[in-house]
Amino acid sequence: MNNVILIGFMGVGKGTVARAYAKKYDRFAIDTDDLIESLENRKIKTIFAENGESYFRALEKKCALWLEKSVRDSIISTGGGFFKQENIKNIGKIVLLDSSFDNIYKRIIAHPNASKKLAKRPLFQDINSAKKLYNERLPLYKEIADIILNVEKRELKDIIDELHSII
Ligand code: S3P
Repeated sequence: MNNVILIGFMGVGKGTVARAYAKKYDRFAIDTDDLIESLENRKIKTIFAENGESYFRALEKKCALWLEKSVRDSIISTGGGFFKQENIKNIGKIVLLDSSFDNIYKRIIAHPNASKKLAKRPLFQDINSAKKLYNERLPLYKEIADIILNVEKRELKDIIDELHSII
């Protein structure tokens, strides 16, 4: 297998870390939300609005089965709820990108496209329910992770170099 799977809350930087890691260390970066959007030829936001969350979770399952069967030697970034997939441990080594909720929120709103970043995330529509979801998920993320990587207030370069040294 030799895949690395990045899990963690919405906006923590899973896609950014995966792409930077892939470029520096010559791997393919695969993102589960991108796979789902290309599978459906629709945006995640539209899938949630038209078919609801359970339909989206079924697509994540399809994706998880395909990753287990067909993907090797890659770095995989996942949607924030993908960690619940039953076969996740068979896909690769699981790395949690760990950061406090406040810092994740600050990171999103500091982005030049902040409103777009929030708008495309159906489960991040208001800060209180997002924070509640974060608090519910954090212990579960920690339980499933093989490795916990602190990314709070760190440079991307340091994060990917540490990731390389620990996997
Ligand atoms: C979700 C996170 C999103 C996306 C979907 C659901 C979640 O991905 O998969 O909106 O359940 O946390 P990001 O973590 O990339 O925002």
